[in-house]
Amino acid sequence: MSTSTSSFNQQQYQFRDYTFIAGGFDSRSNNVDTRLFSTATPPTDNAALKELLTATPAHPNNNIPPHITERALMEPKLYQISPHPLYLIKKRIEDYFKVVGHNVNSDEGFVSMDSMAPIVTLEANFDSLLIPQDHVSRSPSDTYYINDEYLLRCHTSAHQVQLLKQGHRQFLCTGDVYRRDDIDRSHYPIFHQMEGVKVFDEDATEEQVLDDLKATLEGLAKHLFGAEAECRWVEEYFPFTDPSLELEVFFDGEWLEVLGCGVMRPEIVKNGLGKGDSDTLPRAWAFGLGLERLAMILFQIPDIRLFWSDDERFWKQFSEDMAMDGSATFQTYSKFPPVYKDVSFWLKKNENDVVTFHPNDLLDLVRGIAGDLAENVEMVDQFVNPKTTLESQCYRITYRSMDRSLTNEEIDELQENLRSKIESALADKVELR
Ligand code: PHE
Repeated sequence: MSTSTSSFNQQQYQFRDYTFIAGGFDSRSNNVDTRLFSTATPPTDNAALKELLTATPAHPNNNIPPHITERALMEPKLYQISPHPLYLIKKRIEDYFKVVGHNVNSDEGFVSMDSMAPIVTLEANFDSLLIPQDHVSRSPSDTYYINDEYLLRCHTSAHQVQLLKQGHRQFLCTGDVYRRDDIDRSHYPIFHQMEGVKVFDEDATEEQVLDDLKATLEGLAKHLFGAEAECRWVEEYFPFTDPSLELEVFFDGEWLEVLGCGVMRPEIVKNGLGKGDSDTLPRAWAFGLGLERLAMILFQIPDIRLFWSDDERFWKQFSEDMAMDGSATFQTYSKFPPVYKDVSFWLKKNENDVVTFHPNDLLDLVRGIAGDLAENVEMVDQFVNPKTTLESQCYRITYRSMDRSLTNEEIDELQENLRSKIESALADKVELR
């Protein structure tokens, strides 16, 4: 659908369809050799951060619906539960970095962290990464704000500087990330990212860093997609890396974006290393990948809602010893019929004659009411009344359960709830037709 989204590979206000550049080892499980691969304790006071989420009364800037708060507080995280597919992919990536970490001259290897609360400061999520003030990702229509100072992280890059400041020089960091976004089979307001960072000695050249980045990530792609996997590099833009690149892999007949990465801007590295005043140019690379996206490709999982399923027909298809080379594919266990419902409204204008409605306002209401029964929301009609100059928009909501057939009555009830919620919660933005 036509809503804009806040991918970081966008220049300001340049809308492009968003892909997960983003987003697994369980710090609590025992099957990791911690001498090779230590899992650090959470670096922030998670308990205090979580309290911010549930503080009452909510700050006027708070735009986080209760169903999102509930998920943000949920523990363990999906990637911490064996054999969830996100757990399997995370572990597979960590296995690779155990080996890579030891190829370089470091006694530490890559440390993996996965228990940092998703509540971070605006400074960590944006400022520390040199994301401009007018970047679309800062907009409250794209990001979940708790108050003026804290938000739900929209990428794991939010922890880059924090972890450098703690002294880590090679690390992986996994977490749940939050974006107000479309409702369709590959978009969900919560998904999981894994970040990787590696710092180099002062005498390393940009070329060496870039070569190491490419070799490391091509190696990762082959580890995930098979030794034969064909890779290509595409130039990208991220505010926090320069140069910035995207890695694509040829899989199942098409080129697929797998991750975003680049050479970290030196100001960010200096800040992280506490060398703000020196004129050395410390170099580091960083990458970010989406665990759902990788799992959907590798296991052919057709709908992102499935990751949240507690249906045993989903769970029993995964195991710690299953093939991870694309040969083990998910078998859809059900295809229940969809139910379509439309809702139309006029977009109101405020005292400055400006429309304040954003499609994501509607999407949060739909998720809040229908939960994972909402499969898709799409704008199907739009026109301007020439007399009133008001714009009308019509959205088609596809309701479908992954596990069972829906009854007409329950969908009618959901739709009625949605209409009254639109009337109350969006009273100053739209008028139902
Ligand atoms: N944080 C970026 C995103 O979510 C991905 C990324 C991480 C890009 C690190 C470059 C370096 O889209």
